[in-house]
Order: sequence, then structure tokens, then C-alpha cells
Amino acid sequence: MPDTDAKDTKNYYLDVPPRKEAFFLKGSNALDWGMQNRLARIFRPDTGRTVMLAIDHGYMQGPTSGLERVDVSIVPLLPYSDALMLTRGVLRSTIPSSYGRGIVLRASGGPSILKELSNEQLAVDLDDAVRLNVAALAVQVYVGADFETQTVHNMTRLVDIGYRSGIPVLGVTAVGRDMVRDARYLSLSCRICAELGAQLVKTYYVEEGFETVTASCPVPIIMAGGKKLPELDALTMAYHAIEQGAAGVDMGRNIFQSEFPAAMIQAVSKVVHERMKPREAFQLFQDLRGRERIAR
Ligand code: R5P
Repeated sequence: MPDTDAKDTKNYYLDVPPRKEAFFLKGSNALDWGMQNRLARIFRPDTGRTVMLAIDHGYMQGPTSGLERVDVSIVPLLPYSDALMLTRGVLRSTIPSSYGRGIVLRASGGPSILKELSNEQLAVDLDDAVRLNVAALAVQVYVGADFETQTVHNMTRLVDIGYRSGIPVLGVTAVGRDMVRDARYLSLSCRICAELGAQLVKTYYVEEGFETVTASCPVPIIMAGGKKLPELDALTMAYHAIEQGAAGVDMGRNIFQSEFPAAMIQAVSKVVHERMKPREAFQLFQDLRGRERIAR
């Protein structure tokens, strides 16, 4: 029955100004609602940062150490991640569909580690990305490598594809075999990705001038982890990257190749979201490591 009460009970709150909230991520205010919503599944709105767990290495290097059995080694870590970067093969075969955070789907590939890595093509169709309800698509961009233009073109096509369904694109700045990994080179790569439409960018940390890489990139930068380091060093690197403007980390080997990956990802999360100092985070890692050891 409709409300027949003659008394006007409506309240228009005329004394309350309308809410005007800027979206919490750098450079993302003009994006559509669906794209912002997907980004909010990757980055925590309360901190504006993310701990993305990268496990896509197999797309070109096969069963990487620590990823031989994703069901055994990675699934127990999912509750500690804010987002997961992986291929559709591992997503469908191994990751529970109840995973509620952002899926960042590897969308480029082709060559194995036995070939020229920059010779990539797009490796997923928009329909499948939508079917998988992904939060972003990830594409490798090899500035300065043999197939530079092809990989930039992969990214620009993916950005166009992504806009059709409101799916953001993560430009992954890949460093070719002979490239010098310094702030000048990474600024060049990150800026190209952002200028050509990537809504977020992943790059490596460099000790000299990383703040110039983040400052000159108009969209959020996520730090890639790189080769396995001692835990304190990896936590220190993450801390410096966050202090110098990174919007989070996309770490793989420094988490899943740790002897105590659950302890490590929790320590990384404290650094990223609470800006915990590296030594304190390492102490936390050691405490959690003790519990992880007992639980085995
Ligand atoms: C490489 O480009 C892959 O996308 C990995 O996701 C990336 O290297 C991050 O993993 P890691 O922290 O092991 O370097």
C-alpha cells in the first residue's frame, strides 16, 4: 500500500550541503564510476595504497620457484593481499571465486624466457576479462627494447578495450636485458605509459631519484618487487618507495620465495598501509615467523 499519510514527512536537509568527494587516487578523478570502483578494489580507500601479490611469473618462465603449487603456497596468503596479479589460467584453475579483492589480469604474453621477451602480443579478450570480473588488465611495456613500439601499441589498444567496459589498465614498465635501471629511464617509461592512457603504472624502485619517477607520473605508481632480497632489505625498499610517493607494491618473489611468506606479506602490509618503519616491520616478521613455524 502506498503511504497515504497526509502529513508531509519528507526531509530535504536544505541546510546540509551536498557531498562533493574527490576520488582518493591521484589522477583518477575524471574516470567513470565503474573504473573508479574497480580501482577501489585494488587500492584500499582508507589508505589509498595497495599490497598486490604478483604471481603471474609463469606466463613466460613456467613453474617459478615458490609458484610450483599455487594452491598450496599462494591460496593461504590471499587474505593478506589487497589485490592479486595473475594469468587467467591460474585464476580459473586455482583461485577460489570467493576471493573478494581486485584481480589484476595479465593481458600480454607470447615469448618465453628462451626468446626476445619484448616481442609480446595482447593475450586476452575483453569479453573474457569481463567474464572474470577483473579489476584491471596488466600489460608489459618495453621502452628501449627491440619491440618497443609493438608493446606500446599493445598498451594503447588495451586502454581502448578497457574503456569500453570501464576496466583500468596497469602499464608494467619492463626493463629490457641491456637497459640501465635508473630514475631517468624509469621516469621515461612511466610517463609514456601514463601519457598514452594507463590508469596505473608499475615500476621498479631505484635508490637515486625514485621520488622524481613518482612525481612526474600523473597516475598512481606501484613498486615492483624484483629479485628475492633478505626480508629486512625488501621491507626497507618498500618503505622508501612508499615514502617517496608510491601508491603501493606489487610484490612477488620477495613474498612467495620467503621461507615465511605469510609473515612477510603481513609485514609488507604494515609498511605500506601504516608506514611502519623497516626495523619494526622486520621485528613483526620475526614474531609472525615464529607462529608460522609452529603452525606447520
Ligand atoms: C613481471 O613483469 C611480472 O609481471 C611480475 O609480476 C613482476 O615481476 C613482479 O614480481 P616480482 O616482485 O617477483 O618482481
